[in-house]
Amino acid sequence: MSNKIWERLAAHFEATRRRPIASLFTENPRRFEEFSLSLDDMLFDFSKSAVDATARDLLLELAEDTNVLEKRDAMFSGVAVNRTEGRAALHTALRNRSDEPVFVDGSDVMPEVRETLARMADFTCDLESGKITASDGTAFTEVVNIGIGGSDLGPAMTTAALAPYHKNLRLHFVSNVDGAEIADLLKTLDAARTLFIIASKTFTTIETMTNAATAKAWIEAAVGRDKAARHFAAVSTALEKTAAFGIDPARVFGFADWVGGRYSVWGPIGLPLMLAIGADNFLEFLEGGFEMDRHFQTAPPAQNIPLMLGLTGIWHNNICGFGARAILPYDQRLARLPAYLQQLDMESNGKRITLADAEIARDSGPLVFGEAGTNGQHAFYQLLHQGSRIIPCEFLMAASSHEPQLQAHHDLLLANCLAQSEALMQGRSEKEVQPKTGMKPGDALHRTFPGNRPSITLLYRKLTPRTLGRIIALYEHRVFVEGAIWNVNSFDQWGVELGKELAAGLKPMVSGEAAIEGAKGSTGGLLRAIAALRAGS
Ligand code: F6P
Repeated sequence: MSNKIWERLAAHFEATRRRPIASLFTENPRRFEEFSLSLDDMLFDFSKSAVDATARDLLLELAEDTNVLEKRDAMFSGVAVNRTEGRAALHTALRNRSDEPVFVDGSDVMPEVRETLARMADFTCDLESGKITASDGTAFTEVVNIGIGGSDLGPAMTTAALAPYHKNLRLHFVSNVDGAEIADLLKTLDAARTLFIIASKTFTTIETMTNAATAKAWIEAAVGRDKAARHFAAVSTALEKTAAFGIDPARVFGFADWVGGRYSVWGPIGLPLMLAIGADNFLEFLEGGFEMDRHFQTAPPAQNIPLMLGLTGIWHNNICGFGARAILPYDQRLARLPAYLQQLDMESNGKRITLADAEIARDSGPLVFGEAGTNGQHAFYQLLHQGSRIIPCEFLMAASSHEPQLQAHHDLLLANCLAQSEALMQGRSEKEVQPKTGMKPGDALHRTFPGNRPSITLLYRKLTPRTLGRIIALYEHRVFVEGAIWNVNSFDQWGVELGKELAAGLKPMVSGEAAIEGAKGSTGGLLRAIAALRAGS
């Protein structure tokens, strides 16, 4: 059946591809009202896409035919939807603010979720009040999170996003195995005032373990081996490994394997965020995520924001053939959102084998990139407006800022955001370009804009913890909807393994512990060139 729906969608696209998006507004003066959806103070506007009533109905049929809502219910109820790793995907349990149980293999996971959250809150409170101190008995002022991927991007992005809510502790993040990152940071810190959180679901990730060892040596050199443990905490599912590293179990925050790395900011991996903004604000953040979950579970399909966001994505990617999406937050504190969504989206849906164990028949996850507005305007928007490729844009903006004293800045920011989506849609024809005196024939062409380039806009009142929770959960569910339609497993990430394995084999050759004779081709040539350059330096 679903093939027929894909065909009807493709036929509808063919029949309407030359119709300007702008004309949809003249045809239907209520287009904005009919093609935008709200949840409380959040507004999702997809009226500047080419999705019309027919496309919307067909997309909703596709969702029904591919059982998206049944799959959604399976995920929420703890079914092992992550089949290739044999696990549930229950990040929603971490933000379940109801009294309802959530079962995994017959047992309710909520008591443990609540207990861990309470331990995180106690730890936060004890650090704030000075009950937990550094090894010299004085307060910690700096906290460094060492983690990578989901153990870095979530806490780093959210901590930056909620800067107006920060309390006393200063948070820092180290992720890259490149020693430059930790070296540059440590130069700015006083070891006696610094607490490290080693965040790794597996506690085996080479980048994190390498940085953790460097941090440990740095602390031991400053405060002595016997006192170093007081400067460490850990977040992991591998409690025996955190103990082997020497971290006091009272400072280890565990979580279950049914929380995927890129979905883990809602639990202990979010500890840096809680330390930055306090436990109450962190609970607000969870409330926001929970509200979006409830909406996703209960709103009728045509009013369901994550579902319609996902379906608009399918329309752009699979029907229109636009293989990328730009994430453009006109909200500086969301500057890391594009990087965060790259992992969420591309690690989840960058797949080509379906859950029916066959090659997918169409394109799966698109390329995701972006930058905070207006910086992006002065970098890559040229291509968005006049390039040969069409890239659907996703704008985010807050009606109000946290800086009422800088209202003029915010007004300009929003005017720019609105101008960009308008310019992408309207374009500018050769006729509209005002020929300047002396302009050579053909020059006007360079100043034309094809227009008819789709965008969506997410508007919210202000970037509060609750709103941020809603935004992240919305994007998580959009990724879920798209993955469900393609029938891929959005919760595994086998594609990162091969490179890790090869790096482990190459490391001894790079460091000179193993001979490089056997290494051939380009890699062999590069290894020899590295050795020669090092010998000469
Ligand atoms: O890049 C692969 C990956 O497994 C991500 O999915 C994960 O977020 C990251 O590495 C870090 O893993 P861990 O938390 O186990 O250190």
